[in-house]
Amino acid sequence: MRIAITGANGQLGSALSAALSPKRTIVPLGHQQLELDSPAVVEQVVASGVDLVIHAAAMTNVDGCARDPEQAYRINSLGTKYVALACRSMGVPLVYISTNEVFAGDNERPYYEYDQTGPVNAYGRSKLAGELVVRELLDRFYIVRVAWLFGGARNFVRTILRLAEAPPDGGLRMVDDEVGSPTFCPDVAEAVTRLIATDQYGTYHFVNSGSASRDSFARTILRLAGRTEVAVTSIKLADYRRDSVPPPYTPLANLAGAALGITLRPWEEALAAYLVELGAYAPSIERPLSL
Ligand SMILES: NC(=O)c1ccc[n+]([C@@H]2O[C@H](COP(=O)([O-])OP(=O)(O)OC[C@H]3O[C@@H](n4cnc5c(N)ncnc54)[C@H](OP(=O)(O)O)[C@@H]3O)[C@@H](O)[C@H]2O)c1
Repeated sequence: MRIAITGANGQLGSALSAALSPKRTIVPLGHQQLELDSPAVVEQVVASGVDLVIHAAAMTNVDGCARDPEQAYRINSLGTKYVALACRSMGVPLVYISTNEVFAGDNERPYYEYDQTGPVNAYGRSKLAGELVVRELLDRFYIVRVAWLFGGARNFVRTILRLAEAPPDGGLRMVDDEVGSPTFCPDVAEAVTRLIATDQYGTYHFVNSGSASRDSFARTILRLAGRTEVAVTSIKLADYRRDSVPPPYTPLANLAGAALGITLRPWEEALAAYLVELGAYAPSIERPLSL
């Protein structure tokens, strides 16, 4: 089986290439090979002659999307249309990687695959438009929503570890009213590997189980890395000025994957595995209260 992966050098694209390559031929379509901002994408993807396309490339800078919503639509929506048209022309299925940010974030429980979408920022709107175009153009597709990814070169875990080396004056300030599903890229890659063998097309939420606020995620990173001496102050989303406003509460529930036996471990376990990989795992031993 030959599989093309857009964004092959990105955080998730690299994990997908690693997970799939032992048994399949991977055609990497990194940014150097493919510029999503061009209708030429259709012919380029068709020329790959693959049996399946995984579309992981995207404009992922959410603040950049807020500053330039038209560019976000060009890359994340039109770019996805070109990839979908190529799949349609080749008659092959598409895996479209989407996001928790298609939801409004005002729920009181984790979002199921079939809950109403309602993006609140330009990034989310452009990714949802990508989902819609996939549904419009293709009969055979998997839409895989992921969230709060870690595992590559640039991510929240690495940022916290870096900040722990030289904390800003007053320590770290972390938002405690933005809640999501921290997710390890290799776990998503393994789940996608299993999913594409099922032909069970549809919409999936592949996130590690459980949820965390940015604040509790950061504190857990510091605890598992043995850096509890680093001071953390909890702040509110409203105190953290940035160009894009995230949906506040977007943990995702994996209903459709679980029905096929595809589940992802708790995020704390995945985080510990990642810290081991980075050589940063040194959990603080908390003293029993009686001592
Ligand atoms: N990161 C998260 O927490 C998160 C959360 C929810 C959903 N997602 C989704 O998951 C997928 C993978 O995310 P990720 O974290 O792996 O992102 P990433 O590390 O930023 O990788 C994205 C890849 O897309 C490429 N790309 C960007 N603009 C492009 C363009 N105009 N044409 C062609 N390629 C382009 C990038 O290449 P360059 O680096 O060379 O620009 C990069 O290799 C994306 O679809 C994203 O929307 C991510």
